[in-house]
Parts: sequence; structure tokens; C-alpha cells
Amino acid sequence: MAEPGGVGPIGPYPTGVETDEQRVEYDKQRRRMLWTLPHGLYVLGSTDRAERRNGMTINWATQISFEPKLMGVGVERTALTHELIEAGGCFSLCTIDREDRAIVRKFTKPVEADLGAKTLNGFAYLERTTGAPILAQAVGFLDCEVRDRVGVGNHTLFVGEIVDAGFLKDEETPVLRMEDTRMNYGG
Ligand SMILES: Cc1cc2nc3c(=O)[nH]c(=O)nc-3n(C[C@H](O)[C@H](O)[C@H](O)COP(=O)(O)O)c2cc1C
Repeated sequence: MAEPGGVGPIGPYPTGVETDEQRVEYDKQRRRMLWTLPHGLYVLGSTDRAERRNGMTINWATQISFEPKLMGVGVERTALTHELIEAGGCFSLCTIDREDRAIVRKFTKPVEADLGAKTLNGFAYLERTTGAPILAQAVGFLDCEVRDRVGVGNHTLFVGEIVDAGFLKDEETPVLRMEDTRMNYGG
């Protein structure tokens, strides 16, 4: 996750970065720079619109159009979430109460979904327009239908139109950001 495990430095390199040592140093510095980009921290819900559900911690999520209202989310090709979004053509994005920051650690691997009890790893979820799971303790949610997909390196950028949105807690509740944790992703 935080470290691109086992991979050597990744180019391209600017002028003057020529030796292996310089490449390693440049690679590290670029990563540190990327880690300073401010991000929110969310739980992305997915479903094949049949029997499968998942929730995944994500920070590569942002609004990308006013009209229509589009969201972009960057999802690892190898993630279960990727498979479910491809299958179901939808996703949900939940903002998380800053007080509930421990939640995001529970959604970094495929979850245990109980469709009868409507829980993901024991956390209650609800379904709105698309059927993608929305954590009941989210502050707010965006429910999206996939309108486009772009392959971007080892991730896919899914573009979703917001078909339903709202708050599940007081809208003044401070929402979780990456800086509220010791986590990082990317770089
Ligand atoms: C702080 C943090 C942020 C993350 N952000 C993303 C992200 O933006 N996109 C992504 O594909 N995975 C992200 N991950 C990794 C996923 O949460 C997850 O580990 C992996 O993609 C597998 O998900 P799966 O349950 O769908 O298989 C992040 C993990 C952490 C800990």
C-alpha cells in the first residue's frame, strides 16, 4: 500500500538524475512530495448487484464535473472492489466521522459481508438507489452509477454519476481526512 513493494525506482527522471543512487533519492523525494497532497479518507461501497458486497478504504476520490454531477475514484486493478464495480456498474462513497477513524483500518482487505444481517465486517450498512452498500454510521454518502472508466496504470479511474446523496449524521460533523491518521497511500 504505502510502499510500492519490491519495485525499484520508477521513471521518468528529470535532467541531472543519472546514477542509480540519484534515481533512488529522486524516487523517494517524489513519493514524499506526493504524500503531502491533501486527501479525504472514505469508504467505497461496491456490489455485483447480486450476492456480493464490499467496502474499501479509499483516498483517491474527487468530484470531477458540475453538470452532470460526476465523481472519479481510482481503484486498484487487483482489488475485489474493482471486480465488483465492473460487474455491478455502480459504487457508493461514504464520508466518515473523524471520531470513527478506526473504521478505515477495517476496510483494507475484502470484508466479511452478511447479507441477511446487512453488515460488512459487523458494521451495519444500508442500500439506497444503486444497491451499493453505505455504512450506516457514515456522515454522508454519494451513490453513483458508473458512466465511464479509464485505465490508468495499475488503477482504473471509474467515473460515476451521483444518482443519490445525503447525510446520515448531522452535516456539521467533522469528516475524516488522511491527515487525521498516520496512514498514507500513493507516492
Ligand atoms: C489510507 C489508505 C488509502 C487507500 N486508498 C486507496 C485508493 O485510493 N485506491 C485503491 O484502490 N486502494 C486504496 N487503498 C487500498 C485498499 O483499501 C485495499 O487495501 C485494496 O485496494 C484491496 O481492496 P479490496 O477489499 O477491494 O480487495 C487504501 C488503503 C489505505 C490504508
